[in-house]
Amino acid sequence: MSIILGIESSCDETAAALVTSDREILAHKLAGQEEAHAPFGGVVPEIAARAHAEIITPLIDAALAEADLTLDKVDAIAATAGPGLIGGVMVGLVTGKALAMAADKPLVAVNHLEGHALSPRLANADLDFPYLLLLASGGHCQILRVDGVGQYRRLATTIDDAAGEAFDKTAKILGLGYPGGPKVEALAKTGDAEAVPLPRPLKGSKEPHFSFAGLKSAVVRAHQSGEHRPEDIAAAFQQATVDCLQDRLEKAIGDHGKVRHLVVAGGVAANGPIRAMLERLASEHDMQFTAPPSWLCTDNAAMIAWAGAERFAAGFTDPLDFVARPRWPLDPTAEKARGAGVKA
Ligand code: KG4
Ligand code: ZN
Repeated sequence: MSIILGIESSCDETAAALVTSDREILAHKLAGQEEAHAPFGGVVPEIAARAHAEIITPLIDAALAEADLTLDKVDAIAATAGPGLIGGVMVGLVTGKALAMAADKPLVAVNHLEGHALSPRLANADLDFPYLLLLASGGHCQILRVDGVGQYRRLATTIDDAAGEAFDKTAKILGLGYPGGPKVEALAKTGDAEAVPLPRPLKGSKEPHFSFAGLKSAVVRAHQSGEHRPEDIAAAFQQATVDCLQDRLEKAIGDHGKVRHLVVAGGVAANGPIRAMLERLASEHDMQFTAPPSWLCTDNAAMIAWAGAERFAAGFTDPLDFVARPRWPLDPTAEKARGAGVKA
């Protein structure tokens, strides 16, 4: 059994956690920055980096105290090394390197996306490889086939916006504030999804990919028309997103054959109606469905510690001169999606 310290700072959450290779979460601490970014309606990279730098050391101390551990009892230090806002990533990675050097422990440089991708295995000990994964967060929307630690085949990606980004933009248009996902979901509960006709971009397309930009523009037009209640727009947007995700997953299952497990990860996986759709889809295709608990879907350090534990167990550690990566695809062999902008 090994104990891994995980550090996360790639976006707007600073987090530290201690997790064992036996899936025990000994401590997990998280400091959000919502108030600092709220006036700007989105994450400001410079503000994020400064906030990470201020809180990261006390947060790690607090995690160690909660687990009643000192650094010498830890077997490896896992820090997010990308992709993400580079200033923030550097804060966490440099902190991880300094602790690794001071305590003479191995460093594991973790891809944030791998943290999300493996997080369902922390939640579910019965989830073995391979699995079909919908990874939907603020920056990414991909379907991956996960064959093992470090073995990812990207089957689909977004040609424009990520699903979480679409939730955030819809929230901004409706004046709900940031982060948008939970706010849109809450408002949608009282709305009528049928009341606002919205498009399902790329639904039925031969290409495997996602697109959400046209949906966002339609939300803008629906809002500007003044004809619709905000709760109806929220409900219609959420339903359109559910339909797009379902259609693209059905295509992936059809094109690539089903595997035993259908899995979801990333912040958008916290969404109730999306989880319900995935559960239905899995049972229709005789697949087992796994979704981590909501707190493990949105950014946290337990998933980074767990990815670190998986990599450490597989024999992967990294040198202390590992360079932070603003972009770091899980499947470097995947071709750029046709029509894709810079984000894909
Ligand atoms: O994985 P995550 O915490 O950070 C990134 O790596 O991006 O994902 C954050 C994204 C945000 O876009 C947020 O609006 C979305 O996940 N999100 C949700 C929900 N909770 C978070 N989207 C829909 N419904 C939710 N309940
Ligand atoms: Zn994330």
